[in-house]
Amino acid sequence: MVKHPDLLVGNDTGDDAAVYRLDNNTAIIVTVDFFTPITDDPYEFGSIAAANSLSDVYAMGGKPLVALNVVGFPAELAVDMLGDVLKGGYDKATEAGCLIVGGHTVDDAEPKYGLSVVGLIEPGKEVSNANAKQGDVLVLTKPIGTGIITTGCKQGVTPDAVLKNAVEIMATLNKGAAEAMMRVGINSCTDITGFGLLGHLSGMTKGSDVGAVIKASDVPILPGVWELLEKNVVPGGTFRNMNGVDNAVDWDEAISDQQRLLLCDAQTSGGLLIAVDSGKVDHLISELETSGVETRAVIGEITSDNRGRIRVAG
Ligand code: CO
Ligand code: CO
Repeated sequence: MVKHPDLLVGNDTGDDAAVYRLDNNTAIIVTVDFFTPITDDPYEFGSIAAANSLSDVYAMGGKPLVALNVVGFPAELAVDMLGDVLKGGYDKATEAGCLIVGGHTVDDAEPKYGLSVVGLIEPGKEVSNANAKQGDVLVLTKPIGTGIITTGCKQGVTPDAVLKNAVEIMATLNKGAAEAMMRVGINSCTDITGFGLLGHLSGMTKGSDVGAVIKASDVPILPGVWELLEKNVVPGGTFRNMNGVDNAVDWDEAISDQQRLLLCDAQTSGGLLIAVDSGKVDHLISELETSGVETRAVIGEITSDNRGRIRVAG
């Protein structure tokens, strides 16, 4: 565990990014994220990977400033293809108001792409995943199910329209959601990515030393996910996530095995999960709407009992 007086958020809370204070007015947020292609389209892959990398800055309440490309690419694959990946990332970073100022590429058997991002925040305004309070309401800003949909795509069973919608959601920046939560003032936030909704919520409850209850039927699900679950389309990471959180989750009997898997589904570039004081939730929802955030779902709340655990109700 790294300790320093100016290190406001380090690696001990499982937060989305580190925060380092430069002076009383300025702190930098530093993060890196990259992964292998999730769709066949290189431009889409680039824009989703960039949105995903930028999201860790947004989850901390910050504003992305500059970024570096992190690239692994097979020498024998067409250079055009890499150009399209980088163009997707560049356009997405531009939308975020973030400059890509360089990067590094290595020869790699399987393509990989992402960004290392530096963002800005006023010291003390940074949002941790470890500060949720008893009675807080949990708000989620994107539907889940992207792991199941992209796995179905690799198996050739995801309908085009279902994939297209999921790609649009994954490529959507969490910028508007972050700006809305910062206007309102909230207690805790994390973005939903590889560990799935329950994995990231579990990080929040453990880090904050609180419990949580969520209502499975209130969790927004992408169209087409249930049909794929019925065909047993489930990514390996989702099974690992379920095993990983199972001893921290109390499932109501009404929750089916498929619902359990879905709540653990490994997400790519998912939404923000925000813990907000119950007196501010209406304000948050209206600010999310003002920011053009289409999904603003109240999915549960933070409890004082059941510390470090999650109850999933039907
Ligand atoms: Co994150
Ligand atoms: Co990340």
